[in-house]
Amino acid sequence: MIKPIRDESELEEVLTRPSAALVDFVRTLSGPLLILGAGGKMGPTLAVLARRAAEAGGHPLDVVAVSRFGDAQTLQWLAVRGVKALSCDLLEAEAVARLPDAENVVYLVGLKFGTVRSPANTWAINTLVPARVCERYPQSRIVALSSGNVYPSSPVKRSGSVESDPLTPAGEYANSVVGRERIFEFCSQRNGTAIALLRLCYAVELRYGVLADIARKVNAGEPIALSTGAFNCIWQGDANDLILRALPLAASPPSVWNLCRPEVFSVRAVATRLGELLDRIPRFVGEEAGTALLANATRLCARLGPPPTGLETMLAWVARWVQSGGRDLGRPTHFEVRDGNY
Ligand SMILES: NC(=O)c1ccc[n+]([C@@H]2O[C@H](COP(=O)([O-])OP(=O)(O)OC[C@H]3O[C@@H](n4cnc5c(N)ncnc54)[C@H](OP(=O)(O)O)[C@@H]3O)[C@@H](O)[C@H]2O)c1
Repeated sequence: MIKPIRDESELEEVLTRPSAALVDFVRTLSGPLLILGAGGKMGPTLAVLARRAAEAGGHPLDVVAVSRFGDAQTLQWLAVRGVKALSCDLLEAEAVARLPDAENVVYLVGLKFGTVRSPANTWAINTLVPARVCERYPQSRIVALSSGNVYPSSPVKRSGSVESDPLTPAGEYANSVVGRERIFEFCSQRNGTAIALLRLCYAVELRYGVLADIARKVNAGEPIALSTGAFNCIWQGDANDLILRALPLAASPPSVWNLCRPEVFSVRAVATRLGELLDRIPRFVGEEAGTALLANATRLCARLGPPPTGLETMLAWVARWVQSGGRDLGRPTHFEVRDGNY
């Protein structure tokens, strides 16, 4: 029997509960641990996860979360949980210069949606900010988030692109993420900075993510497009745990890792299972195209261990959440997009 997650405080407790491996690892860190771009979907729970791991290990580690924090509630949420939150626009070189020194940096800054309307803004955030950060932290270890979007679509039967595949994606957003990686790579080569690039594909929790998107459609009786018929995902708590434990993988030139669960999931099968859990019959439109944006995370799972939260647990949690009217961040993933236009 899978214990349900009934409200946001239970959800946040689950998302920020550290593994034994993380508690052991965090003991090795000297502070502060700097988390850049911490105001988005993943950063707040990642920062608190690190903080809870330090507390569980009896290790006095300062965790500093940096973002513009347009949403003051996030700042407050972090402060109450023992994370030092600093408001900073990382495009501003002078503001970056004032940030505290740090041996260990987690880089989450990114911009995806709105690229079609304002591609220049996306390119600036995804390439200029990495350059500023690398200039400020040449001696640090950096784990930088990238995306599975750097790959083109691949045959579903192939089980996902591997890290050595060519980076020839469609659309400006994805190409700007290739640009993000290349700037990190350039700075690492020039300054000897140790960097690990993690190509995430995709994080899910109950308030957003591919599973929540599908569950909401099944529950509302809305049609589910099948052309993008397969996807990867990973529970956000597991992703954050692996992101922190990836710090020792940082190297110069950068090491590169796909980050997701090791399986490829079928949209049709997931919607059908959600239909059983929600007591609904899913409606489908179109047919599976045979190719999809997929990553193969075998290497990272072999190195750091497989993510513990399995699909059936995530589906049971998300079905119950949607059925009971749990909050939706209102940020659909648009995982069905096939032309790279976000
Ligand atoms: N979530 C996923 O499933 C997924 C999948 C693939 C890749 N990724 C990558 O993983 C990273 C974290 O994911 P996420 O979902 O948390 O992304 P997100 O929700 O877009 O958060 C990124 C945050 O970066 C901050 N930021 C942007 N420009 C900034 C600037 N000039 N100065 C300071 N902060 C700035 C923003 O917070 P403020 O508004 O507070 O500044 C933004 O919310 C991103 O780089 C993303 O590309 C995520």
